[in-house]
Amino acid sequence: MDKLQIVGGKRLNGDIAISGAKNAALPILCAGLLTAGDLDLTNVPRLHDVRTMLRLLEQTGLKVTQDDEHVVLNGANITSLEAPYELVKTMRASILVLGPMLARFGEARVSLPGGCAIGSRPVDQHIKGLRAMGADITIEGGYIHAKCAKLQGTRIHTDMITVTGTENLLMAAVLAEGETILENAAREPEVVDLANMLVAMGAKIEGIGTDRLVIQGVDALHGTKHAVISDRIEAATFLCAVAATGGDIRITNTRTDIFDVALDKLREMGVQLTVEGDTIRARMDGRPQPVSFRTTEYPGFPTDMQAQFMAVDTIARGPSRVTETIFENRFMHVQELNRLGASISTEGNTAFIEGVERLVGAPVMATDLRASASLVIAGLAAEGTTIVDRIYHLDRGYDRMEAKLSAVGADIVRIK
Ligand code: EPU
Repeated sequence: MDKLQIVGGKRLNGDIAISGAKNAALPILCAGLLTAGDLDLTNVPRLHDVRTMLRLLEQTGLKVTQDDEHVVLNGANITSLEAPYELVKTMRASILVLGPMLARFGEARVSLPGGCAIGSRPVDQHIKGLRAMGADITIEGGYIHAKCAKLQGTRIHTDMITVTGTENLLMAAVLAEGETILENAAREPEVVDLANMLVAMGAKIEGIGTDRLVIQGVDALHGTKHAVISDRIEAATFLCAVAATGGDIRITNTRTDIFDVALDKLREMGVQLTVEGDTIRARMDGRPQPVSFRTTEYPGFPTDMQAQFMAVDTIARGPSRVTETIFENRFMHVQELNRLGASISTEGNTAFIEGVERLVGAPVMATDLRASASLVIAGLAAEGTTIVDRIYHLDRGYDRMEAKLSAVGADIVRIK
């Protein structure tokens, strides 16, 4: 199992190019099931989750042609409408094939994703929405088996805001008969990127970027070309790294208009940000100021950035408080950060962080994707050597993070 060895205390200086967004690429790849035409995709990030999704799609008969970050999908000859347990258990986003398969072929058999490290994460809202559209859904032997003659447009109000739930129902609605209204829809930039691509494929969607999506179903969609949106979570992760180590970096290939409150919070920490076109320059000197926040849906503070900001807070010049409202168990990094000398206590879904003057390197264990990123940030700031074990979590969602960091001066190597 690969590990990362980090010798902390180096300032970061130089340019980092941001990859395409994992959480946009995954639903966008599933949209390949919606058409017999070619989906020609660029800026597809080189990630383990993307490879898993492509494997899953290939098993359905979808043709995949890949040249690095350029992927062409063709769904003219789909032969299997199943997402098996072996793949779904490793990546919950596999649930995103359900809507497209059902909408175009009238049937899908998708393994029910189990819980995962960050919480129970049910998919009841995906199922509720598809049932409302007329699908006959049974759950048996750990599989969701969905069938329908033709999905019917209807009004769906999800009980909570769900990102992949919105994406699944949106991909179902574009080929349904008549009008579907999705109330309480997720507004994340990744949902917007998917919706914009669906429109380019011939879908009729109004309200993109709002919490009310109105979709007029069409008979068929055609292929298109699309560049996956830049990864705002990856970008903010590197900005947190420089907030923790100090230095002067430039983030390129980013989109500054899709940032949530993360940039404001970085400024509050004392990072000097200069935004120019698709680049962000970040300069930092000295210890960060503490920032408190609570995670919420977009455009609020993203849960996918909670762990990384907490890592910076551990060495801030004062106390801070972080509340996680999206997932019930997303504080697994706390114990590991404390192993590095941080002083964090938790009470329910709130963490109380006392800023300490310095962290000291130690062996730590990654438990999920963003928790791993927070340990890397802490390791970069710590004195001495940190070994981050189980970095397969990191590889699921960051394209060669250690290469990007060592190119800007970090002392970080992968140990096989
Ligand atoms: N929920 C339900 N029932 C449902 C759907 C969601 O109870 O049917 C609950 C969840 O358990 C959670 C909340 O609603 O408590 C929000 O979950 P959501 O469905 O929005 O999460 P997701 O779609 O499974 C996506 C991202 C996550 C990101 C969340 C929140 C993808 C592939 N994944 O997950 O990304 O944290 O939205 O923004 O888009 C990551 O990249 O590290 C990651 C975990």
